[in-house]
Formats: sequence, C-alpha cells, structure tokens
Amino acid sequence: MSGESKTVIPEKREWDAASYDKKHSFVWKYGTEVVELLAARKGERILDLGCGTGHLTHQIALSGAEVIGLDRSSEMIEQARKAYPQITFVLGDGYDFRFDEPFEAVFSNAALHWMTRPGAVADCISRALKPGGRLVAEFGGKGNLHRLHAAVKTAMSSLGYPVGEELDLWYFPRISEYATLLEKRRLEVTYAVLFDRPTALEGGDNGLREWLETFTSNFLARLTGDERPQFFKQVEAELRPVLFRDGTWFADYRRIRVVAVRD
Ligand SMILES: C[S@@+](CC[C@H](N)C(=O)[O-])C[C@H]1O[C@@H](n2cnc3c(N)ncnc32)[C@H](O)[C@@H]1O
Repeated sequence: MSGESKTVIPEKREWDAASYDKKHSFVWKYGTEVVELLAARKGERILDLGCGTGHLTHQIALSGAEVIGLDRSSEMIEQARKAYPQITFVLGDGYDFRFDEPFEAVFSNAALHWMTRPGAVADCISRALKPGGRLVAEFGGKGNLHRLHAAVKTAMSSLGYPVGEELDLWYFPRISEYATLLEKRRLEVTYAVLFDRPTALEGGDNGLREWLETFTSNFLARLTGDERPQFFKQVEAELRPVLFRDGTWFADYRRIRVVAVRD
C-alpha cells in the first residue's frame, strides 16, 4: 500500500481503447438497437456523445446523416479517427460542450452513466439541439450491476478500503429522476424504459476479471500488486454461484433507454 489515502479516486479515467475493442465489443453491439431507435435520416446533423471508438458513430453515418463523435478520452478518439477517417471525431467533455451549429439529434450509448454531473450534461444537450430535435440514449439505470458492485465493495472492504460513496462512480437513475431532470431543461420525455439485460462477458473463465479491469479501473488502480489477485479471487468466489453459467460470466446490467424532444 502506498502512503496515499485509500479514499482518493480520480473522476477522470483513461480508457484502454485497444482492449475495449478487443474484449468488450458487446457494448457497442448492444447499441445497434439504440441506433435503430434513433432512425437517423439522410442529411440530419447528429452528435454521438461519448462515442468511444466510433463503431456506432459509423453505423449512424451509414444512413447518410452528418454525424460528429465527441468523447473525453484521447485514446478512444484516436482509435475512432484511425478506424473511420471519413467521420469527424472531436475531443470534448460531456459536462461542457458547445457547437456553432445546432443538431437534429443527440445520440448516446453506454456513456451517460460515466458522467456523474447529469444536470451539466443535460444543459449541454438541450443547448445543442434545435427546437424539435431529439435525444436518444441508453445507459445504466437504477439497479445496474447491483450484485457485481456489492461483491466489489465487500472485497474492497476486506482489503481495508472504505466503501462508502467513494466507489459510487456512476450515475444510474430511475426513470422518474432522469425524466424530471430532462424536463427541467426543455426536453420532453416521449419514451422511457428500464429493463434488465444480463450480458454475457467475453473471455470465458477470465471474463469477469477482464471486465473489472476495464470498467472499474479507477479504483483497481488503488490496489497494490499483491492485493489485486486477492481482490479478483474474492469477487469471483462470491459471484460464481449467481453470475457464471456454462463457462460464461454474465454482468447484471440494467439499462435505461430514453427519447426526449426539445421544445
Ligand atoms: C463504455 S464507453 C461507450 C462508447 C460508445 N458509445 C460505445 O457504445 O461503444 C463510454 C465512453 O464515455 C466516454 N466518457 C465518459 N465520460 C465522459 C465525459 N465527461 N465526456 C465525454 N465522454 C465521456 C468515455 O471516454 C468512453 O469512451
């Protein structure tokens, strides 16, 4: 253990874009349904907020829409630009972005739960949309990863780390909470659903470990080399009876999917 406090967890995290694409492609593959819900039309100007490595930005562009991808991670943006050089990707922050020209739609998949100041994000979305423009988004909703997080907290606690709000790094709202937040910003919710989506992880027996390494890297960074194997072992032992079936780990995802229209 270093001399640093065990409680400090940086809000800003860097993403390992290569491993994201190689081991966690389920994230954007599930997002294909959200692209269908967006139903982009030729010529529409669309922003993909938290676009990551750009696979869904590309799918949206296939409709003939003029799409721009925005993400805070320079690694993700770099990888997206390499894969899809014909698309515009900008490095930017969901808490504070501004474009000269308004958009017909803001799209977002699996990104808004990483932005823990949702009011600031919704202010930017509302400002970015034309009147009549739409937000189409899916992200983690209330109860997302409930079992997984409980096991992580137990393991962190047994290693001597405090497990209060320090580990609540995500925003997983109820429908009522998120709808109210949007409505206060002139975004009228026309569709909202919260649903369980148990998600098979890639990597077989190592699937949970690889998922933890990518998606909980903020606080894994606090563990010493000796503590890490112990942490993984304990989380796996606790979750194996409920989240491991026929050689595959499942994450207990619960998603919120929303469409809202700017007045
Ligand atoms: C799980 S990835 C999803 C990427 C992509 N939408 C997809 O479906 O594959 C979450 C993305 O949100 C981005 N992100 C997190 N916080 C952000 C913020 N404040 N502003 C912009 N992007 C952010 C991350 O950098 C990351 O690329």
